[in-house]
Amino acid sequence: MALITKKIKGTEDVLPKESYRWQFVEQIMREEAKNYGFKEIRTPVFEHTELFARGVGQTTDVVQKEMYTFETKGGESVTLRPEGTAGAARAVLEHALENEGLPIKASYFVSCYRYEKPQAGRLREFHQFGLEEYGTQSPVADAELICAAQSIFDRLEIKQLRLEINSIGCPECRAKYHEALRAYFEDYKSELCETCLSRLEKNPMRILDCKSPICSKIAEGAPKITDYLCDECEEHFASVQKYLDAAGVKYIVNPTIVRGLDYYTKTVFEFVTDCIGAQGTVCGGGRYDGLIEELGGKHMPSLGFAMGLERLLMVMEKQDIEIPDFDECKLYIATMGEGAKAKAFELLKQVRESGMIAETDVIGRGLRAQMKYADKIGAKYSMVLGDNEIEQGAANIKDMETGEQKQIKLDETFLEQFAAILFESQSDSIVGGFI
Ligand code: HAM
Repeated sequence: MALITKKIKGTEDVLPKESYRWQFVEQIMREEAKNYGFKEIRTPVFEHTELFARGVGQTTDVVQKEMYTFETKGGESVTLRPEGTAGAARAVLEHALENEGLPIKASYFVSCYRYEKPQAGRLREFHQFGLEEYGTQSPVADAELICAAQSIFDRLEIKQLRLEINSIGCPECRAKYHEALRAYFEDYKSELCETCLSRLEKNPMRILDCKSPICSKIAEGAPKITDYLCDECEEHFASVQKYLDAAGVKYIVNPTIVRGLDYYTKTVFEFVTDCIGAQGTVCGGGRYDGLIEELGGKHMPSLGFAMGLERLLMVMEKQDIEIPDFDECKLYIATMGEGAKAKAFELLKQVRESGMIAETDVIGRGLRAQMKYADKIGAKYSMVLGDNEIEQGAANIKDMETGEQKQIKLDETFLEQFAAILFESQSDSIVGGFI
């Protein structure tokens, strides 16, 4: 049969057989967010275009080239969120969450949309987990946020991840730095790419992020922001490092990190790996002390990070990190005849209510095909129910791996008996494991 259409370039399906990998990672993120005092926020997938233009910044690649923007039937310009920070900040402002006390701590899982050139680790629809914290300028918050990200990576057992940090200062020290950068790049005007030439006036720091080999070579000799920080920013950055040291978090100061979005101030950071190719940044974030004001609110120093789920899962696969699959079917009941079907429902209800996965035939297959299916889905135990079993009030339950069979009564103690069989097999395998 011809398919009417295929998935859109740069998007991915997560199929039933692999979704447990996502759920495992998401569960750890949820738990860590909770441990650090963050509560989930859910915001719409689209927002007024103006929010991202103002929030993310007019000079960024995201706003200039990558947004999925369209006009609605009502004539409004809306955009699919390219990231989670702007929408969360809008919601914080709109609902005046500061009235509930500061800091406000929000976590999220979002799908994001960027019209980028797809490649390994770079999609047009991707997923982020993020934490955002509003209403604190203390460097303790910066360090704590970085620790939260580190805790997640530790629990996922991800190895060879580099934490790179930098401070890109406040608007005051950055103005001086911009001047120094302009003066430096002015001498290379004839060699810079066209995009960087336009960046020279509006936002020369973006040149440091240019991927063109010529521009990045020139950028190597450019002045470093860390030499231009004002006393307050320098002190803030030193404190962040002091707290990270105290928490035993390893990092490298990399003065070339500028991040791709305009809202950042002071601390910026990235977690980078070399094991998945060019798109090795799995997490990025930092402070954005001016964003809430930019969106029309009062001054509210804030910070956050987001990590890409697809990239993280790629790293875990590359590093052979085992992800437990808790979706194992514990019991498959094969049925023969109408009476057996009804009895199976009664027994399955008991097993399912206890939180275990249990299945039966819903297609009308013959016994042999039912057993084949039980094998295919990896059922731990199977049981055949027919008129005989119902008459005797007992059936044989079979360990699908060893073939061993045990009799089980089909009465109200069914679940109890089944749980005992399961428990016994588990303790056997633990003892076996020790021997
Ligand atoms: P970002 O660096 O643009 O920052 O994205 C964060 C993470 O999302 C990246 O480190 C990467 O893992 C993932 N990511 C980004 N683009 C793609 C893509 N095209 N395909 C797959 N994964 C991607 C932000 O979005 C900020 N909102 C982070 C933040 C939160 N800063 C403060 N609070």
